[in-house]
Amino acid sequence: MSKQWTVAVTRQIPEIGLKLLGEVAEVKLWDDELPPSPEELDELLAGCNGALTLLTDRIDGPLLDRHPDLKVVSNLAVGYDNINVPDANERGVLVCNTPDVLTNATADHTWALLLAMARRIPESIDYVREGKWKTWGPLLLLGQEVSGATIGIVGLGRIGKEVAKRANGFGMRILAFDPYQDAEFAAKHNVEYTDLATILEESDFITLHVALTDETRHLIDAKAFAAMKPTAILINASRGPVVDTEALVEALQSDAILGAALDVTDPEPLPADHPLVSMTNCIVVPHTASATVQTRDAMASLAARNLIAGLQGERPPASVNADEVLLRHGA
Ligand code: DGY
Repeated sequence: MSKQWTVAVTRQIPEIGLKLLGEVAEVKLWDDELPPSPEELDELLAGCNGALTLLTDRIDGPLLDRHPDLKVVSNLAVGYDNINVPDANERGVLVCNTPDVLTNATADHTWALLLAMARRIPESIDYVREGKWKTWGPLLLLGQEVSGATIGIVGLGRIGKEVAKRANGFGMRILAFDPYQDAEFAAKHNVEYTDLATILEESDFITLHVALTDETRHLIDAKAFAAMKPTAILINASRGPVVDTEALVEALQSDAILGAALDVTDPEPLPADHPLVSMTNCIVVPHTASATVQTRDAMASLAARNLIAGLQGERPPASVNADEVLLRHGA
């Protein structure tokens, strides 16, 4: 029996998401390892009422105009900087995302990166693999102490808060910068709100958890690196362009800071011959902070439920513009 809606899914996703969508809609799946090109995306979206998209798909006004039947765009990510939300608002298109379900996985991964860089784990693994381990040495592969150090959290939203909670386990001094302050959380979890300048100057570990906006693009630039301690380690699990890549390379090459651990980069993917990839004071992983089996299942399920609710004219469990769309275009 033919279904009422047709939806596009722009990459293979965990089965649970496809199953939910398949129960109510014809699913057009982009089954390649690589994302569709803009032209291929246009072809895929032809005749679709909804789309389950990834952060690699650019969704903007002209694209929405070419697909007037497309009424819900459900991103499989908490971030949605790949979607022009004002353009979607104007056209009454619901935009959805997957907050909360990936918070713990992303916070855990931030800590994995922080600890790996602080304690030189990748370098140590290479050392053993390369047959260099001859004896125990008092000066061998010395890292930085994490317990008792100062962590500066830039962006104390859902993920930043979970990072802060974990920092208490390490007995750290916890600084945070965020224009929206949650005094109750701060008091309960020993967080000291401060300005960005203080975070840059006083932190041993600086971890970024902001959305990518015009205000946060290149928030960490050459001036910011110059303000950091020479022993500082930068962790980025937010979006690559929050850090000025050229300035980061320069800071690492000149030992202006001790190291960086990056889940996200600019550009993304980072070419294998990029200077950041081969530096021993930098760890790069391929944007996998939310990549656990359990979290990706939860993201796929939430993204599918968002899309289905939007198609059915209901309020999606997680939409970034439902209020705006309702206000402008009615129910
Ligand atoms: C997101 O959700 O925004 C991440 O970057 C992918 O998990």
